[in-house]
Amino acid sequence: MTPIVEYRDLSKVFYKDNKQVHALAHVTAEVAEGELLAIVGPSGCGKSTLLNLSAGLMKPGTGEIRYRGKPLNGVNTQVSYITQRDNLLPWRTVEDNVALPLSLGDRPRLTKQERRERISHHLEVVGLTGFEKHYPGELSGGMRKRAQLARSLVYEPDMLLMDEPFGALDAQLKLVLQAELLRTWEGTGKTLMFVTHDLTEAISIADRVIVMSTRPGRIKAVERIDLPRPRDVFSIRFAPGFGDYFDRLWSALRDDIRQGQEV
Ligand SMILES: Nc1ncnc2c1ncn2[C@@H]1O[C@H](COP(=O)(O)OP(=O)(O)OP(=O)(O)O)[C@@H](O)[C@H]1O
Ligand SMILES: [Mg+2]
Repeated sequence: MTPIVEYRDLSKVFYKDNKQVHALAHVTAEVAEGELLAIVGPSGCGKSTLLNLSAGLMKPGTGEIRYRGKPLNGVNTQVSYITQRDNLLPWRTVEDNVALPLSLGDRPRLTKQERRERISHHLEVVGLTGFEKHYPGELSGGMRKRAQLARSLVYEPDMLLMDEPFGALDAQLKLVLQAELLRTWEGTGKTLMFVTHDLTEAISIADRVIVMSTRPGRIKAVERIDLPRPRDVFSIRFAPGFGDYFDRLWSALRDDIRQGQEV
C-alpha cells in the first residue's frame, strides 16, 4: 500500500540572527495509512518543523515530501494540525471555534443542520457538551485541549498532526486525555502523527515510535510497538515488553538529551 506520507531526504535550514540553524538533515521516512506514529526527540531537534512541513506550511530546503504519492506543494488541506501553541480564537465561543474548519474553502458544503449535528457530535466525543457557549478563557487547560481536538476532528480529515498536545498538563489529566484520544482514534483508520517529549506516552499510544537526534534532527531509531489494542494507557506501562521498548528507545535518546538541550 502507498504510504500516506513519504519524506525523502528532507533537510531544512533556518536563518536566525544572521546564523544558520540546521533544523533537519536527511530525514527519510514513511508514514503508513492508519498508523499512530509518535515522534520523540530533544528540544529543538526539528519535531515541530517536521509537522509544519507535513502540513505544507513551509517548504523543505532540500528533499521532497509526498502525500498520497504526489509531491506536496502548498498547504495540505487534507490534514488537521493541533499546533504546539494553543490557537483557539479567544473571541469565539467553543462551538464557533470548533466550527471554524467547516467554513474553510474546499470543504464539502454542509447544511446548517448538518453543521450543527457535526459540531455537537464532536463536542460530545471530547466531553465538552454543555460548554458550547463558553469562551476559551473560561476553560481549564484540559478543556482547551479537548476543544482543539474537537476542532481538528470536525471536518473528518484523513490525517491528524498533533504537536505535544498534552505537554503542559499534569500527569493525571494527561493520562485521561491519552485514554480519550485512543478511544476516539482506535478503529477510525485515520493516520495520526503525535509529537511528544514523553517516551512513556509515546510507547503507550503508538504503533511506531521514531526517535530523532539532536539538531540537525535526523532519524536515530525507529521501533514498532507490538502491544495489543485496544490499549489501556493506565495499565499498559506494566505490560510485558513495555520495559524493553522503553530501554531500547531510551538508549537512543539518552545521549542526545544530555547534550542536545536548546540554548
Ligand atoms: N521559523 C523559524 N525561524 C528560525 N528558526 C526556526 C524557525 N522554526 C524553527 N526554528 C529553529 O529550528 C530548530 C528546530 O525547531 P523546532 O521548533 O522544529 O524544534 P522542536 O523539536 O519542535 O523543539 P521543541 O521540542 O522545543 O518544541 C530550533 O533551533 C528552532 O529555534
Ligand atoms: Mg516543537
